[in-house]
Amino acid sequence: MTTTQLFDKLWNEYTDRTPSAQKVKDLFEAQGNSTIANDHVAFRTFDDPRVNIDVLATTFLNNGYEYVADYHFEKKKLYAKHFAHKTDKSAPLVFISQLLTSELSVELQSIVNNTLNTVDFDTVSAEELVFKGRLWNTPNFELYNTLLNESEYAAWLYVNGFCSNHFTVDINKLDTFDNIIEVNNFLKQNGFEMNASGGEVKGTPKDFLEQSSILADKFTVEFEEGPKEITSCYYEFAFRHQMANGEFFKGFIANSADKIFESTDMLLK
Ligand code: NI
Repeated sequence: MTTTQLFDKLWNEYTDRTPSAQKVKDLFEAQGNSTIANDHVAFRTFDDPRVNIDVLATTFLNNGYEYVADYHFEKKKLYAKHFAHKTDKSAPLVFISQLLTSELSVELQSIVNNTLNTVDFDTVSAEELVFKGRLWNTPNFELYNTLLNESEYAAWLYVNGFCSNHFTVDINKLDTFDNIIEVNNFLKQNGFEMNASGGEVKGTPKDFLEQSSILADKFTVEFEEGPKEITSCYYEFAFRHQMANGEFFKGFIANSADKIFESTDMLLK
């Protein structure tokens, strides 16, 4: 699989559950932007050795990516790594986070463990994991709420499984917008709701990275107790600034990412 094929496959799966992302991309194209480039694509997982960051990263590592840096999110009990393509500078960065379950309650740990125990991992190759979505059976709404009380991230993952949590438009490569404020205003004019946690724009030019996102879409999930509306994924926007050496900053800002994680919060929508 080429890098383009890999991200096309992920995009198709992502827009099935996140129709807003396709709508925004179409609006940008209608505005006269010929290519909508991806700054990065993000994934979520648990720290369990069967599915942790290093397992989820397999398909990217096998397709020319390498590890670049890591990040700690102490309050949310998350750890993340970012990967970049070794030679293709136009390929999106990959950001994978994992929930540090051992730092959470015994109850949460047992729900996660029991859930993963229902999956026959011998039949799922690490290469494929990122496309698999939820590998376990119909979720239970009571368990979902137990997870939600402790970690929004855990609850989201329990329902959505392994998939692209967000794609991110590279604002620098858009022809019709010069900055992130213009992008946000355009999105709001078109009826999209922004994640305002920590302000609509996360990060400043001094951080060399400004980011924003629309709130996650919702979709109907069949629980054991019946259908419920649950958050799926969201679309993000990133504007990168040049550093003193003339190069554009290519990393991430933990404090900004911390607030962006909240785009899937059920309470925000
Ligand atoms: Ni992101």
